[in-house]
Amino acid sequence: MFVGVGSDEAIDALLRAFCVPGKDKILVCPPTYGMYSVSAQVNDVSLVKVPLRIPGFQLDVPAIKDALSEDSNIKLAYLCSPGNPTGAVLQKENIKQILEHESWNGIVVVDEAYIDFAPEGSSLAEWVAEWPNLVVMQTLSKAFGLAGIRLGAAFTDPAIARILNSLKAPYNIPNPTSQLARAALTPKHLGVMRKNVKSIVQQRNRLLAEMPKVPGVGRFIGGEESNFLLYEMLDAPMEQGGKPSNETALGVYEGLAEDKGVVVRFRGKEYGCLGCLRITVGTEKEVDRFLEELRIVLADIFKKSGKLGAEEEEKREKEANAVVA
Ligand SMILES: Cc1ncc(COP(=O)(O)O)c(C=O)c1O
Repeated sequence: MFVGVGSDEAIDALLRAFCVPGKDKILVCPPTYGMYSVSAQVNDVSLVKVPLRIPGFQLDVPAIKDALSEDSNIKLAYLCSPGNPTGAVLQKENIKQILEHESWNGIVVVDEAYIDFAPEGSSLAEWVAEWPNLVVMQTLSKAFGLAGIRLGAAFTDPAIARILNSLKAPYNIPNPTSQLARAALTPKHLGVMRKNVKSIVQQRNRLLAEMPKVPGVGRFIGGEESNFLLYEMLDAPMEQGGKPSNETALGVYEGLAEDKGVVVRFRGKEYGCLGCLRITVGTEKEVDRFLEELRIVLADIFKKSGKLGAEEEEKREKEANAVVA
């Protein structure tokens, strides 16, 4: 095991350990977590991008295998499961095929930052005992709610762990972090984490049921295995033939953040995510508030563009009259 200052340290340490600057490359599968490319850039390592398959956001195994066969300078493949921003767990069989690549001699890195929100049995952590070319990263920043203590871990073969650990600055995990992490992993506090995850999963299901009822919300295009959901925003309500729109998604993002103090992530510029917002699941109250504000912000946008549906127009009028009465 390697323990780092967040799993971001493991992402960077792997690059420094296995890539020669200016020569080697990493493979990533967009849309994905931005830190792989940030760390690669900082270390003067270039990227080979093999997009995820759409729909479903699963690995394009033949394209990944071809890319790895063609370029021996690719030393690491960063895969994110559940994906950020996709929310989809990657199929194990696909990852196995990459681990079994006939000629490529690099390392498969599976980033499981959001694994605690996924169904039991989704993690590949135990596979590191079997595969010497696998690294599985996890973190206390997500389901444990401890992003501030900065603690992440990478599980891997002892040979790789030894290299990663020897790169570390001495004593780089502060003692308070270490003590809080140990406490978080005791049965009592694991119970707290599981209880929180259960309630987030309930609210995730609620959002999945309620979002399609909001005029202007389009398809749900990601997976259901994380604490966020990826939804399209449309340029008009669905029944008026609305199409995914970055303009609407940005309008919603800004309207919610600036006027309502509700922050979601705009992901419309990522591969396969046109018009998308990544919506983090909150508490019951937060979800109530989000749904209410989202309906208002979208209706305001459509009102301005003259695309407010008749039903919504009538509802708004009634609400306004009720306030006056
Ligand atoms: C997919 C993914 N991996 C890793 C991280 C890094 O988390 P940390 O460095 O806090 O452990 C994040 C944080 O947003 C993430 O989304």
